[in-house]
Amino acid sequence: MDLPQFVTMREVGTRDGIQSLGAFIATAQKIEIANALARTGLRRIEVTSFVHPKAVPQLADAAEVMAGVERPPGVSWEALVPNLVGARRAIDARSDRLFVVLAASDTFNLKNIRMTIADSLKGVEEIVPLVREVGTAVGAGIATSFGCPYAGEVPEARVHDIVARLLELGIDEIGLADTTGMANPLQVERVVGRIRERWPDVTFSLHFHNTRGMGLANVVAGLGVGVTKYDASIGGIGGCPFAPRATGNVSTEDVVHMLHEMGVQTGIDLEALIRCAQRMAEVLGRELPGQVMKAGPRSVRHAA
Ligand code: COA
Ligand code: ZN
Repeated sequence: MDLPQFVTMREVGTRDGIQSLGAFIATAQKIEIANALARTGLRRIEVTSFVHPKAVPQLADAAEVMAGVERPPGVSWEALVPNLVGARRAIDARSDRLFVVLAASDTFNLKNIRMTIADSLKGVEEIVPLVREVGTAVGAGIATSFGCPYAGEVPEARVHDIVARLLELGIDEIGLADTTGMANPLQVERVVGRIRERWPDVTFSLHFHNTRGMGLANVVAGLGVGVTKYDASIGGIGGCPFAPRATGNVSTEDVVHMLHEMGVQTGIDLEALIRCAQRMAEVLGRELPGQVMKAGPRSVRHAA
């Protein structure tokens, strides 16, 4: 397999990771972990989302978190937004990049953000000029791109239609998300491969959940078709509150460990990343799904 030399990781732990947790994580702790993540070499951090505080109470402090993070040069503090109101809030809070979320399944979009795909696309049409005016960047994430927990199979043609429309509207980066871990590696190779063939010059990123243990295998499949940008969450926490039995993203430190072992660079200090995962476990008061944070890197030697 031809592997890329460098992969850019996009950390989503303080957004996707904690959005569905019950007990409110203190704003100061979210900021502390976000700042620690930014010191590991991670260059992109989707730190929060500007959604309705009643829909996701855990992220009601989005503006405070965005105001509290350190802004070292080279770190992009990104935010998920569902609509125009969220985009305005994210811009006011000085987000470096917005990610508009919509789904490839109407049923899921209605459950998640209470609108049809067509209405989401109309929202994007209003958001793009607003973002351009202030000189910020805007991407879009397509949830359930590989299957919907309610509707089942998602036709590839629909994902293509949404991608085409988003590009027409001026979106400059598109995330394909496997919201509930329904993708398998061959499907990733096929679906993402065809998308890359059709739009070879567009930036695509992949967002996998490890719900059924296929997360890392799906990352490898993505590498095989030339994708160099991946979302992941520290400790492997996460899950959409509007998807049944949702569980965490692929764990950032597990992905980074695998990439480094395969000779792919990320610019990230793995040891520092593992410390962030351990701190997250402490803050959440429970064991996290990440594996390298428990076993340690492969290079560790134990006394015989
Ligand atoms: N942030 C804060 N308030 C918002 C908002 C946002 N992004 N979007 C809408 N509102 C406010 C409106 O201003 C309006 O307020 P008002 O009653 O005082 O006038 C009210 O919410 C209702 O607006 P409406 O557009 O009808 O929203 P809705 O009730 O249909 O909810 C969403 C739509 C998208 C805001 C809501 O479903 C949501 O936040 N979902 C988040 C889903 C999520 O985070 N999923 C996980 C990540 S993928
Ligand atoms: Zn997710």
